[in-house]
Amino acid sequence: MRMILVGPPGAGKGTQAARLVDKYGIPHISSGDMLRAAVKAGTELGVTADRYMKAGQLVPDDVVIGMILERIAAPDCAKGFMLDGFPRTIPQAEALDAAMTKAGVAIDVVLLFEVPDALIVERGVGRRNDPITGRIYHIKFDPPPAEVTERLVHRKDDHEAAINERLHYYHDWTAPIMPFYEGKGLLRRVDGVGTPDEVSARVVKALA
Ligand code: AP5
Repeated sequence: MRMILVGPPGAGKGTQAARLVDKYGIPHISSGDMLRAAVKAGTELGVTADRYMKAGQLVPDDVVIGMILERIAAPDCAKGFMLDGFPRTIPQAEALDAAMTKAGVAIDVVLLFEVPDALIVERGVGRRNDPITGRIYHIKFDPPPAEVTERLVHRKDDHEAAINERLHYYHDWTAPIMPFYEGKGLLRRVDGVGTPDEVSARVVKALA
């Protein structure tokens, strides 16, 4: 299964991906997680990416495309993968399409998580990530247990100004890729409002 998860920032892509990984046994490839790892490691790519990410802007296409195409060519992706946060622009979608065609494979499904802008800011501001387990929490919607609270991380781009900037980039640059996948008959829209369990049930239906 080769799957793409797309949607506005904080729509719940990472939350649902964690549940889908167990079901399909394919690697979860989050462009945001890969870029944050590069920032932490202080690589050249990370130094470039950090400038854009802190401000809630998109990292340039050439940087992200190279990183993802290299990752999906790895042996553990031979039977499939779950892309989360990529593609995010038309050039990224076209580069992925060309790489798939060259490899003689194809994307099976694109899940679009739809959440109104008004909810996005609240989800982002309250998000906390566990750097040890990778678990995503929310201080109100999915509160962390007391024993992990101390070590939780609040992402640098999870403040209101950066979230609004990320939303702006989503509407201007990412939403326009949907007709590309709709035209190929691959797009499945999932209502992302409701509890994570309710959204999971809709994902199962969309993938049936
Ligand atoms: P990235 O890390 O991809 O961030 P994003 O797309 O903005 O998405 P998030 O990871 O913030 O949210 P999510 O949808 O996974 O939501 P989550 O499950 O955590 O990208 C970050 C940056 O990297 C970009 O701004 C850009 O600079 C750069 N970048 C990455 N990819 C790029 C690319 N391809 N091209 C160029 N630049 C790129 O949920 C959010 C919160 O809500 C959590 O607290 C969670 O607990 C809660 N929650 C989830 N589901 C529910 C629910 N159903 N009900 C209530 N709360 C919920």
